[in-house]
Amino acid sequence: MKQAPSAAASPVSRTPRNKESRASEGTAIIQVRGLEKTYSTARGSLTLFHGLDFDVYPGELVAIVGQSGAGKSTLLHILGALDTPTAGTVHCASTNTAELTQRQAATFRNSTIGYVWQFHYLLPEFTALENVAMPLLARGQDRRAALAEASKWMREVGLEDRSEHRPGELSGGEQQRIALARALVGGPRLLLADEPTGDLDETTAGRVFDLLERLHVTHGLTSIIVTHNLELAARCARTLRLEHGRLAPWKTASQG
Ligand SMILES: Nc1ncnc2c1ncn2[C@@H]1O[C@H](COP(=O)(O)OP(=O)(O)O)[C@@H](O)[C@H]1O
Ligand SMILES: [Mg+2]
Repeated sequence: MKQAPSAAASPVSRTPRNKESRASEGTAIIQVRGLEKTYSTARGSLTLFHGLDFDVYPGELVAIVGQSGAGKSTLLHILGALDTPTAGTVHCASTNTAELTQRQAATFRNSTIGYVWQFHYLLPEFTALENVAMPLLARGQDRRAALAEASKWMREVGLEDRSEHRPGELSGGEQQRIALARALVGGPRLLLADEPTGDLDETTAGRVFDLLERLHVTHGLTSIIVTHNLELAARCARTLRLEHGRLAPWKTASQG
C-alpha cells in the first residue's frame, strides 16, 4: 500500500523497556486478539492469520520476520489502521482500529502512527524539507511552523544540508532517512516500518537501522519493524516470526 507516512502531536517521554521488564509495565499499547485475515481470490479464499494473539508494550522495539508472502505487510497494515481484519480485535493506543470509519482511521494514522516503507514514497516534485513537513501540512498546520518543525527533523536525521534537494537528488540511504523524519515529524507514539532497509546495501542498511534505533530510544517510541535481515532483527529486544498464519517468538542461534 502506498499511503504516505503520517505522524502526530504530543511529544512522548516514555523510557524504552526490554522484554525482561515487560511483566511489570501494565497496559499494552497494542493488543491483538483472535486476529484473522482471509482474502477471497479468483482461486478461492486465502487465509493469512489463524487467530493471532499478541501484545506490544510501550517502548518495545519488536522485529517481525517471516518468508515473503507470510502476511507481514498485511499485519502491519491492520495494526496501523490501513486495512481491517476479517475477525478478531486490534486495540492500538486505546483505539479499536477495526471500528473506525475511513475518516477516523485517517485521523488516527496521522496522529498516532509513523510509517516507513521499503520504498521511500517521497513526493518527487517537493524538496526533502517539504516532504518531511507533509504530515503537518496535511493536518492543516501553518506552513511556516510546519517547515520549522521539519527543519528540526532534517537535523535530527543528519541531513540539514540536503533540505532543498529533491528526492531524486538523494542517495537511497538519505531517502530513507528523510522518510524516517517524515514518519516522526508529528510525534507519533508508534513507528511501523515495513522492510525499511530492504532496498539498501548492507552498510547503508546498518546505518539506517542505527538511526531508527536511536530515534526509537530518544523519542520514546514503540516500534515494530518487519525485516528480512536476520542480523538486524537480532538487535531488537524481541523478534517474532510469522509462519503458516501464526506468530511465534524467534530465537537467534546465539540465544540458544
Ligand atoms: N488485497 C489482496 N487480495 C488478495 N490477496 C492478497 C491481497 N494482499 C495480499 N495478498 C496476499 O497475501 C499474502 C501475504 O501478503 P503480504 O502481507 O504482502 O506478505 P509479506 O509482506 O509477508 O510478503 C500474499 O500471498 C499476497 O499475495
Ligand atoms: Mg511485505
